[in-house]
Amino acid sequence: MDDYELLIDLHKEGYRQGPGGDAETEQALNLSMVDRAAPLKVADIGCGTGASTLLLARLLNARITAVDLLQDFLDVLEERAERMGVADSISTLAGSMDNLPFANEELDVIWSEGAIYNIGFEKGVADWRRYLKAGGVLVVSEITWITDSRPPELQTHWNKEYPEIDVASAKIRVLEKHGYSPVGYFVLPEHCWIDQYYRPMQARFEDFLDRNRNSEEARAIVAAEQREIELYETYRAYISYGVYVAKKTGVRGEQCHATDARTSRG
Ligand SMILES: C[S@@+](CC[C@H](N)C(=O)[O-])C[C@H]1O[C@@H](n2cnc3c(N)ncnc32)[C@H](O)[C@@H]1O
Repeated sequence: MDDYELLIDLHKEGYRQGPGGDAETEQALNLSMVDRAAPLKVADIGCGTGASTLLLARLLNARITAVDLLQDFLDVLEERAERMGVADSISTLAGSMDNLPFANEELDVIWSEGAIYNIGFEKGVADWRRYLKAGGVLVVSEITWITDSRPPELQTHWNKEYPEIDVASAKIRVLEKHGYSPVGYFVLPEHCWIDQYYRPMQARFEDFLDRNRNSEEARAIVAAEQREIELYETYRAYISYGVYVAKKTGVRGEQCHATDARTSRG
């Protein structure tokens, strides 16, 4: 197995592939104020094995398209959906979030937990806006500084890993700039990292190493995950995922600026 296949092997048995929790998914849904009884069209982008998709299918009267680059994760999602009796509400789509097949203004809700960083927050929110109906809702979680300043080791690490990391006020500004009106924001609590994501992953390490004959490559992957866990545990006061809930507005920020400029000229 190459490194990519090893990562799939480690993560596909996880209920989640990133920090999050069912209670927090429902909290975001409540903040969005969507009508749970309405026949909505929803896309869950970067859904992994479908923790949020499956919960949304239970809570909403929706048709949900679950999108992920990896068919292996979607296969697990489909099995779970069958077992939970929600398969009829979910279609899976293997593809990239930067090349989605939706029509303009097709969707009522775009949901994306812990995945938009793959194309970058600003590109993602800007590109996906066209798929939302007017007044449609975007719910997206994104790695976020939760303090104004932070230790140099942490800053250096994340500047290299994901230069777009920023504080919530900057992320909200990006949403406003690209034609969204923010309606809610909260920070994922520590249990979403530790209890829902890291501890279950650590519990899979032994079987993962056995399955892969304790290969050097498999050990390197476990070591890298352990380093990430230690970094989080050391610096959790400074960093988390922010959950951003926003509505599509009638105009993009730059259109307003252009109109203002024309008006002021005269
Ligand atoms: C950190 S995981 C989060 C998964 C899931 N939303 C969750 O919270 O458990 C990121 C997901 O994004 C998917 N992904 C990575 N690049 C992608 C792309 N270009 N298009 C679609 N999905 C992608 C990965 O396969 C993975 O399932």
